[in-house]
Amino acid sequence: VKFSLAGKVVLISGASGGIGLGLAEACVARGARVAMASRNLRACQALAKRSQARAYALDVRRPASVKSAVSKVLKDLGGIDVLVNNAGVHMFSDVASMPEAALAGTFDTNVFGPLRMIQAVLPGMRRRGSGMIVQIGSTLAYRSLENIGGYSASKAALQRLTESLRMELAGTGIRVLDISPGVVKTQLRKNAWFRGKAPAPAETLPFARSVGATAEEIADAMEAGRRDLMSAAWPVRLAMKYLSVLAPGFLDRQLAGKN
Ligand SMILES: NC(=O)c1ccc[n+]([C@@H]2O[C@H](COP(=O)([O-])OP(=O)(O)OC[C@H]3O[C@@H](n4cnc5c(N)ncnc54)[C@H](OP(=O)(O)O)[C@@H]3O)[C@@H](O)[C@H]2O)c1
Repeated sequence: VKFSLAGKVVLISGASGGIGLGLAEACVARGARVAMASRNLRACQALAKRSQARAYALDVRRPASVKSAVSKVLKDLGGIDVLVNNAGVHMFSDVASMPEAALAGTFDTNVFGPLRMIQAVLPGMRRRGSGMIVQIGSTLAYRSLENIGGYSASKAALQRLTESLRMELAGTGIRVLDISPGVVKTQLRKNAWFRGKAPAPAETLPFARSVGATAEEIADAMEAGRRDLMSAAWPVRLAMKYLSVLAPGFLDRQLAGKN
């Protein structure tokens, strides 16, 4: 173990459900002191009680909310060792009729939200000369499909920021971990903004994985001190990581109409 979670303070955005909740539970099980944060404070409080964590109100779209949540965690727990930028939203629309406001809203949560969180926690991590920033991206950062260009663009933007950040923090003792999950069985698609027909639930998609398995894999990657992890079934990894680069036209033909 390169980075033991035992005793570490871990702040997770979007911990009221899905991957964030699963990861909160996995981190508690490994001895971390977990701060669960999302817009729904009540839900976080109820879940935090169950998993011996603390709950905080946080809307990553609001700079003032980000500042106050981070300063409350610092006050309560004395410092933040790990920030997990997990809060995110999905959107479904073709490009031709994509409303600017929907794309801007997606970027506000998925790109500017993590940016605000990073800028709020970095000064403390720099002073202590250690820390970890975990970015929950997506396999769709590597390659998009029909009707999800907006979401995919936000995750690609996040991944580019992650790459720069890692290089900028080299030698500071602060690690940066890029996580790219494939399809995970959560409410993400149900909560999504969409135009046209409602997205199918994750459960009905091929290669969909459980929150529990995903959370354990992410926690393992954190403790192993990895730089990145594509947390998905092997055919998804093959397609999104390798075929997308080596045979993009072939991949487009295989995936056409599949979304
Ligand atoms: N599920 C997948 O297939 C999949 C695949 C790849 C990547 N991901 C990524 O994994 C992350 C978690 O998604 P999930 O699948 O667990 O989705 P989810 O079940 O919809 O959970 C999303 C979480 O984010 C929180 N959230 C949303 N907007 C927020 C905001 N403005 N401020 C603070 N919290 C906010 C929600 O809580 P509140 O409503 O209480 O704020 C909720 O706890 C996202 O970044 C997503 O893009 C998911």
